[in-house]
Amino acid sequence: MSRSFHVAPGGSLSGILRVPGDKSISHRAVMLGAIADGVTEITGFLEGADAISTMQIVRALGVCVDGPRAGRVTVHGVGLHGLRAPGTSLDCGNAGTAMRLLMGLLAGQRFESTLVGDESLSKRPMRRVAEPLAAMGARIETRDGCPPVRILPVAALHGLRYPMPMASAQVKSALLLAGLYARGVTTVIEPAPTRDHTERMLGGFGVVVQRDGAAVSVRGGQPLRATAIDVPADISSAAFFLVGASIAPGSDLIVEHVGMNPTRTGVIDILRLMGADIEVCNEREVGGEPVADLRVRAAPLHGAVVPPQLVAPAIDEFPALFVAAACARGRTVITGAAELRVKESDRIAVMAEGLRVLGVEATPTPDGMVIEGRGERASAFVRGAVQAHGDHRIAMSFAIAALRAEGELVVHDAANVATSFPGFEALARSAGLRIEGRPQA
Ligand code: S3P
Repeated sequence: MSRSFHVAPGGSLSGILRVPGDKSISHRAVMLGAIADGVTEITGFLEGADAISTMQIVRALGVCVDGPRAGRVTVHGVGLHGLRAPGTSLDCGNAGTAMRLLMGLLAGQRFESTLVGDESLSKRPMRRVAEPLAAMGARIETRDGCPPVRILPVAALHGLRYPMPMASAQVKSALLLAGLYARGVTTVIEPAPTRDHTERMLGGFGVVVQRDGAAVSVRGGQPLRATAIDVPADISSAAFFLVGASIAPGSDLIVEHVGMNPTRTGVIDILRLMGADIEVCNEREVGGEPVADLRVRAAPLHGAVVPPQLVAPAIDEFPALFVAAACARGRTVITGAAELRVKESDRIAVMAEGLRVLGVEATPTPDGMVIEGRGERASAFVRGAVQAHGDHRIAMSFAIAALRAEGELVVHDAANVATSFPGFEALARSAGLRIEGRPQA
């Protein structure tokens, strides 16, 4: 059943909180643990539907996985060549990361497998992964470039040097995982830096990954050695609170143990560019990933022209950043973000539609948006009901917008929040958001 958020206007955010584990890292930890030799212990695992889908798939491939229990997961690795043919199709649910990375992992196997997904995932482009994998010798069938994805057995893959046409960590990661099963070296060249969790984590599992400027390479046949992985809190989930506390007068909030991988911190850079007051405290490193506590206090935001190099490191945070822009004084211009159109929803179209319902002048462009901020007013949004179109990040972004609304905001089709942020409602309430979730007829 779907769910609506009913959020009363106003309030502020305060206290100390920790958001759930990083989604990107949780997926990778289970996948790499599965093909490692030995037992991988994961802590801080995201117990959201997306990462659980990956866990179930790995089980269907013959890997014993214990948990999750309070964020702890134990993966009994079967080694690089130990995966077994699944008895059924493999359901990725809403998770694009699961599907694309698993395409890479499964492309070099000697058995057939089929990956399926929910309604949203079934519309998302898979050729960006299928085509370069085919160039490595994989045999992959899609339905007009979308799921279901059928992967046929092959004797061997061969390495590839691939200049990636789009800045995508999912494509890069899929090719590196396939590269483990390929003869020779697989090299991916990025048009702009994207999240590097796969490379870092492969290093943690004892695999040599080479980085030369924009090129990242792996030689096939290297075994993975099981390890311990402590998953930091997801900066993409922290982002809703960074924006919420910035826009709501009187806010003073600490978000703890946030993953600060430099390929992910664009949201902090963009918010600071807009005048946000975010303090990075207690910086440390946990299992090869930088982590910090973030203190954020309300500040008057102003519009900004977002520099193109900050787009990839903030790619999942634009729904929340659009809300910040609507609360800022003056105009915000985002370009070079066409990838937003192929996320869990078309995030440019869906956010522009919702912002306009809430009285904001938001003009979608092919690769971004122009937003006329309403920063000079106490309320940036009029009361209203918006559609999240089943997109978790859209739902949470509009929920926090209520902090600066003049009346109640209703967000429909919000059940998918559980894919990345289980417990969002309770945690947001504990910080001061007046949110109530109700079953949607
Ligand atoms: C992800 C990469 C990004 C991001 C997604 C998670 C990952 O997608 O939007 O939420 O874990 O590699 P793209 O690589 O398609 O940009």
